[in-house]
Amino acid sequence: MVNKITVVGAGNVGATTAQRIAEKELARLVVLVDVVEGVPQGKGLDQYQSAPIELFDTRVIGSNGYEETGDSEVVVITAGIARKPGMSRDDLLNTNAGIVRQVSEQVKRSSPNAIVIVVSNPLDVMCYVAKEVTGFPRERVLGMAGVLDTARYRAFLAQALDVSVRDIQAMVLGGHGDTMVPLISYTTVSGIPVTQLMDRPTLDAIVDRTRNGGAEIVKHLKTGSAYYAPSAGAVQMVEAIVLDQKRILPCAAWLDGEYGMRGLYLGVPCKLGRRGLEKVIEVELTEDERASLGKSADAVREPMAAVKL
Ligand SMILES: NC(=O)c1ccc[n+]([C@@H]2O[C@H](COP(=O)([O-])OP(=O)(O)OC[C@H]3O[C@@H](n4cnc5c(N)ncnc54)[C@H](O)[C@@H]3O)[C@@H](O)[C@H]2O)c1
Repeated sequence: MVNKITVVGAGNVGATTAQRIAEKELARLVVLVDVVEGVPQGKGLDQYQSAPIELFDTRVIGSNGYEETGDSEVVVITAGIARKPGMSRDDLLNTNAGIVRQVSEQVKRSSPNAIVIVVSNPLDVMCYVAKEVTGFPRERVLGMAGVLDTARYRAFLAQALDVSVRDIQAMVLGGHGDTMVPLISYTTVSGIPVTQLMDRPTLDAIVDRTRNGGAEIVKHLKTGSAYYAPSAGAVQMVEAIVLDQKRILPCAAWLDGEYGMRGLYLGVPCKLGRRGLEKVIEVELTEDERASLGKSADAVREPMAAVKL
């Protein structure tokens, strides 16, 4: 358990993230921050009142400022506008960049040693904004997307094969968007290559559904977007860091020559521990996978060039 974790944005993803962190007792104090007056305070108090029932000793409080967040060990940034039906992630670019910039300035001032996990979309570009504005090293600014995309892929596979989700090992790399790269060559069911258990058209349909996983939920909900699985993804990263688990998870990391690329955030296998990003793991890719990763990087570079810092 660490002393303090801050979650910025008390909307659907942020509030659920705070609740999951508290229920897992990953910190003594969780501070929820939002610009809307009363919302983080009300949600924080409501969550803390579930403590005697759920049996956790983590305090949850809400605030409209950053004073209470001082010296947080981990900060999760979920502030922003969620995608609406028909809206692409990139439509969100400049509104959310302004929000993430303002949040990052506050985080830099109040928690200069924090490890930052960005969730706001468009994910890879928002990570870049957070890294540039805080000036934190790449070890301490990471993005959550690959864990979610991989969870969606694993859930669809488990359902199609009628096996436990626990037995599906997989990795989705690349940017968080339509160009994400599910690695079929590394997808196994208890070590058995998935291609031995499923025909290619079925697998391709699952890969396609994974790529559109976020949009499928937006279409159902009509207002707002997914948050149960996204918050679970963010908390898996927080847990790996706080408990120094050295887990290998697909995260958006600032590349510095890995996979032949540098100067952008992209989803790659990362070792997460108490120092944050402890290593980017380079795996062998098929020619197709390498080409798809390159395309995905291009799809990240374009909005990166358009964002005003
Ligand atoms: N990376 C991923 O895989 C992933 C998955 C789901 C959602 N998201 C993104 O996460 C973000 C949050 O989604 P949501 O569903 O919780 O949206 P939401 O609208 O429910 O919540 C966003 C919250 O941010 C707050 N906010 C706005 N500006 C702020 C500021 N300057 N400081 C503090 N708070 C501020 C809003 O008041 C609101 O409460 C969106 O950008 C969404 O696209 C990313």
